[in-house]
Parts: sequence; C-alpha cells; structure tokens
Amino acid sequence: MISLVWAMDENWLVGIDDKLPWHIPSDLAHFKSITNDKIVLMGDLTYQSMKGYYKNKPFPFKKVYVANINYKEYSDAILVNDVIDFFKNNKEDIYVIGGPTIYKLALPFANTLYITFILNRYEGNVYFPKFDLSKFKVVNYETADKLIFTKYEKRDN
Ligand SMILES: NC(=O)c1ccc[n+]([C@@H]2O[C@H](COP(=O)([O-])OP(=O)(O)OC[C@H]3O[C@@H](n4cnc5c(N)ncnc54)[C@H](OP(=O)(O)O)[C@@H]3O)[C@@H](O)[C@H]2O)c1
Repeated sequence: MISLVWAMDENWLVGIDDKLPWHIPSDLAHFKSITNDKIVLMGDLTYQSMKGYYKNKPFPFKKVYVANINYKEYSDAILVNDVIDFFKNNKEDIYVIGGPTIYKLALPFANTLYITFILNRYEGNVYFPKFDLSKFKVVNYETADKLIFTKYEKRDN
C-alpha cells in the first residue's frame, strides 16, 4: 500500500527553496499522527530539509527510505536508487512524504492520499504536480482554522 502525505496552499504551493513556506503547528501534529512509527519514503532534498528541523534528534519513523539517483550512504536510512522499480516491487505500507519530484513518481502507485488544504496563499517556488484528483474519492474530511484535513482513496474504476 502506498500513501502520499502533503500540505499545500490554494496555489498548490508546497515549498520555498528547501523548506516549508509556513509554520503551522496543527498541521505538523496532523503529519506526525499519520506518519509516527510508520515506514516512510522521501526524496534526498526533503531528507536534508527534515534533518535541519530535527537537528540531532532521531526521526520518529519505523524505517526511512531516501530516494536519490546518485549513490549515497545514509546512517539512518536506506537508499532507493530507482523509485519506479521500488514501487513496482513494494510489499510494505509506505508513506511517501515528499517532495514533489517523488510525489509525481509515486502518484500512479498511490492507494491513499492525505492532503492538507491550507486556505491561504504563501510565497514560494515549489509546487505539487498537477494531477487528476477525480481518480480518488474523499473518505475523511475535517476542517480546522484555515485548514482542511482530508483523506482520499483510489476509486476502483
Ligand atoms: N508541503 C509539503 O507537504 C512538503 C512535503 C515534503 C517536501 N516539501 C518541500 O518540497 C521541496 C523538496 O522537493 P523536491 O522535489 O525539490 O526534492 P525531493 O523530492 O525531496 O528530492 C528529490 C530527489 O529524488 C531523486 N530522484 C529523482 N528521480 C528519482 C528516481 N527515479 N529514483 C530515485 N531517486 C530519484 C533526485 O535525484 P537527482 O537530484 O539526482 O535528480 C533528488 O535527489 C522542499 O521545498 C520541501 O520543503 C513540502
């Protein structure tokens, strides 16, 4: 099973350079509630960015895969050189946590999407790739102040 987890603003913005454009504690708490002690996959740039946030603290995940076309050793993660091959052969419950390069490659394999819609517009330069959300159906929907937490599942047809 492949789940994608992300937050985006009204323009589908997700990043500014290598960082998040916002600091929204309730969305961070939501992200943690979904991914805590789970198996995650992220791109190398997101991994480096999260290292900046976590400093010397260990990530709160059960297992971490990092996608990078180039060979690199990670002390706390497993390198994935070919994401498509990884998804084709995957038998684990994987939470894909960014960034857009990896979301785009993961979307055709996605069973579940956890999207936080941020009802605002921020400054930034990294966007979620356009895709057909009608291929998924909403199964959960919660509103909070200027946020909508959603869960989508892939339609059968
Ligand atoms: N709002 C959110 O929810 C959210 C979540 C996560 C991240 N972000 C933001 O997203 C941005 C980072 O995203 P990004 O797209 O620039 O980078 P990224 O997805 O974190 O990392 C891309 C990495 O994937 C590698 N790659 C590309 N194709 C691959 C393949 N087929 N197999 C294996 N590895 C492959 C790239 O290698 P090469 O460099 O060699 O091409 C690169 O190292 C930051 O601004 C971050 O804050 C936002």
